[in-house]
Formats: sequence, C-alpha cells, structure tokens
Amino acid sequence: MNDILIELKTFAEKFNQDIEPLFKKSELPEAKVVSAMHYSVLNGGKRLRPFLVCQCASLLGSDYQKAFPAAASLEFLHSYSLIHDDLPAMDNDDLRRGKPTCHKAFDEATAILAGDGLLTYAFQILAMADYSDEIKVRLISLLSQKAGAFKGMISGQMLDLYAENASQNENCAALITRIEQMKTGCLLEYACQAGAIVGGANNQELESLTSYARKIGQAFQITDDILDVVGNQQLVGKTLNKDVAQNKMTFVSCYGLDKAKNMAQDLVQSAQESLACFGSKAITLKSLAEFILKRTF
Ligand code: IPE
Ligand code: IPE
Ligand code: MG
Ligand code: MG
Ligand code: MG
Repeated sequence: MNDILIELKTFAEKFNQDIEPLFKKSELPEAKVVSAMHYSVLNGGKRLRPFLVCQCASLLGSDYQKAFPAAASLEFLHSYSLIHDDLPAMDNDDLRRGKPTCHKAFDEATAILAGDGLLTYAFQILAMADYSDEIKVRLISLLSQKAGAFKGMISGQMLDLYAENASQNENCAALITRIEQMKTGCLLEYACQAGAIVGGANNQELESLTSYARKIGQAFQITDDILDVVGNQQLVGKTLNKDVAQNKMTFVSCYGLDKAKNMAQDLVQSAQESLACFGSKAITLKSLAEFILKRTF
C-alpha cells in the first residue's frame, strides 16, 4: 500500500508541474475565469484519472510524455465536473480538496464559466495534441460520449439528482448501479481506454483494461460513499455526512456499510483478475486497485 501511495504522490507532483503552464495568467478582466479554472485544477486532487491513463499507456510501452495530453485533458474535464457538482443547485458543497469550492472562492457565475472553460479546454488540448489524426478522433469521440448526456457522466449526474426524490419502491440496487456506472464509471473507463488507445492496444488488451476499469470504477464510488460516512474530513477534504443530509442514493444507503465494504473488496479482486493477460507487468494497476479499496482520501 505504501509503495503505490508514494508512486501516486510522485506522479501528482510531476503532473501538477506539467499542467501549470497550460493556464496563462493575465491582468485582463476576462482572465478571472482562467484564474478560477487554475484554482480548481491546481488545488490538490489525487490525480487518479491521469495516473490511470499514463499507467495503461505505459503497460503497452508508451511513455508519460505521449500519454500526457490525454491525461491532462481528462483531469481538466473531471475538475469541471467537480466544480458543477459542488454548485448550490447541485450538491451545494463549500469544501473541495480541502479548500473552498470554486463558487465560494470566486462566485457562482464564475464557477459555472470556469467549468464550461475546462470542459472546452479538454477537447482543445486533445485537438492540438501531437497524436495521429486517427488517435485524436478516437479520443475526442470517446471522451465526448463518456462525458455526455447519452449514458455518459451527465446522465449519471441527472440520475443522481432524480434518485434524491425516488420512491422507496424503486429498485435501489439497479438504480445505484446505473448512477455509478454513468456518473463515475464513465470517466474511469475512459481513463483506461484512452491509455490503451495511446499505447496501441489490441482488442484483448482493450477489453481487459475496460473490464478492470469498470470494476475499480464501482469500487471507487463505493469507497467515496463510505468515506462520506466514516471518513476523516481533514483527509477527505470534503464536508462529510452530506449524502444522508441530501437524501442521496448511495451504496451505503442501499446496502449498509458492511455489505458495501464487502462489495468493494470483491470488485477489487475481480479487477485484479481482469489484468491476467498482462502478467507481472500489471503490478502497479493491481496495487492501485488495492489503494482504491483502502484509501482514506
Ligand atoms: C470525486 O473524485 C468525485 C467522484 C467521482 C466520486 P476524486 O475522489 O477522484 O476527486 P479528486 O480528483 O481526488 O479530488
Ligand atoms: C460526483 O459524485 C461525480 C461527478 C462529479 C461526476 P459525488 O457527488 O458523490 O462526488 P463528491 O462526493 O461530491 O466528490
Ligand atoms: Mg454529486
Ligand atoms: Mg458531490
Ligand atoms: Mg460523494
């Protein structure tokens, strides 16, 4: 567990240095939105998604440099999803990554625009990346699907809001699985698939990484739901006990803490088994699955 924590932290430091120059500072009044984008991206964050992109690419022989545009664009898109998720009209959160949320540090209108700016910037970075046209089109088209309103992240966010008022008769197991697959699973799946595409994966490799991603995606949301109940606010960096307060449907509300923990454990084991075709080369991804289970932040 310690080794993967160090690896993730080392990666995050390098990644943060490399994304810093992508936000040009200026005194112009309109540059306030860029300051808010910069604030929301460079405010901590585990960098799990870019790490996954780079690790999957590396498993197939592609280096950090090559995976970087795919990794950075995904982290920007993820950061946009967090800014909007925290808005008063959505989860109404004041704390993110241990700091005031974007709409608290700036204002609501600027936070909406900063989210829009990051979403757009993600695609601009891919469009301008040093990839072949074929790889660019594959990445842009896949990311637009996974982030979008047709069984993508936006659909998951919509269903998450719907479920706040779902009747007791609603099938909790089916609904929470669909919410997770879309709101969280889609971007984690994209992370692994983008790494696979950059690394030139064959069909079997792509399928194995997709299967791994789906399982860690569900385990990741289960631990997110668990940390909201039993986490340490200092480490988690978000206000705790928000899910019950907002009547959110979560794996904990559907299954209870113990069952949710067992589910995450089974998923992580199964995720590790999905990597069989890579043999010992997949050691980091296997440890990362373990981190997702045991994480405290
Ligand atoms: C939080 O994601 C949102 C969910 C999908 C549960 P992370 O826990 O990866 O957030 P950061 O990027 O580390 O802040
Ligand atoms: C948010 O899920 C998922 C996305 C932003 C797409 P949550 O609402 O559970 O995430 P946190 O707990 O606020 O990080
Ligand atoms: Mg939410
Ligand atoms: Mg939230
Ligand atoms: Mg949550």
